[in-house]
Amino acid sequence: MSQSIAQLSGILSIDGHVAVTVSPAGLPHLLLTNRHGLVDVALAGAQVLRYEPHGTAPVLFVSERAQEVAGKSVRGGIPICWPWFGPKAGAAQHGFARNVVWQAVSSEVHGETVSLTLALPADAGSAVGWPDAYAVMLTVRLSDVLVVELSVANRGTQAWQWSGALHTYLAVDDIRQTRIVGLDGCRYRDQVLGGEQLQHGDLLIDREIDRVYHDRAAALRVVDGAALRVIEVAKWGSGSTVVWNPWIERSAGFADLAPDAYQRFVCVETANADAAAVTLAPGERTVLGLRLRVTE
Ligand code: BG6
Repeated sequence: MSQSIAQLSGILSIDGHVAVTVSPAGLPHLLLTNRHGLVDVALAGAQVLRYEPHGTAPVLFVSERAQEVAGKSVRGGIPICWPWFGPKAGAAQHGFARNVVWQAVSSEVHGETVSLTLALPADAGSAVGWPDAYAVMLTVRLSDVLVVELSVANRGTQAWQWSGALHTYLAVDDIRQTRIVGLDGCRYRDQVLGGEQLQHGDLLIDREIDRVYHDRAAALRVVDGAALRVIEVAKWGSGSTVVWNPWIERSAGFADLAPDAYQRFVCVETANADAAAVTLAPGERTVLGLRLRVTE
């Protein structure tokens, strides 16, 4: 059962740091603030939609054509793909977690760090035929950086497997002047051309890119040449990184993406996809984590 605004406020509000707000579409959001910046999280999908360190442009891209409607994730921010990544016969692409309203669990302030924890309702899976019992939480932590952690525990009596991603839409000023540093020498599955390939040098986004890198490196850097800024994407508990930009022709297939929007984002997704899918024994728990930091 969904929580009312009053219930959400009772659980989460902290004066000057965590506020429950209502978006223009009438849906509840949580606004985290500290002296370094702000983070806006929609309760629907536990989706981080804004990360704005003071003095810098928004770190996350949100499509100007995005529509905030119940049951569908917004095109932008950090949708949570879980418990599967990509298409699945007879089911929603990228799992059900991004399409349901999450529940408020707690919030706290420790020094400069403001955190928020939300839970995926236990019955969201059974409603779409997912058989396994889970406890899934998302913690969002704002300090001088943004940390997002997806914790997944097996509450059933048998082992099961999940794949997924923190599907981060990073805002850039000009995709043609953007490069991703840190994937040199990494193998990837090319979802545009098919087959396995090897990355040589930095990744330039100069065409449709849809790749699952089998990447365990701790951090990548997205160098935005036009904005003269670098976004560092650090990760843990992750065995792959998905890089996606639909470029010109594929963009036409997305009603919630303007034709030229591809120029202003690249998705760098902290993932466990393909062979990096995670098997959890009963009682076992894993954490998929992401840290975003802007450096000039
Ligand atoms: C990426 C996939 O993660 O998400 C792409 O690799 C997909 O293949 C993209 O097109 C967007 O997916 P969706 O379901 O949010 O439109």
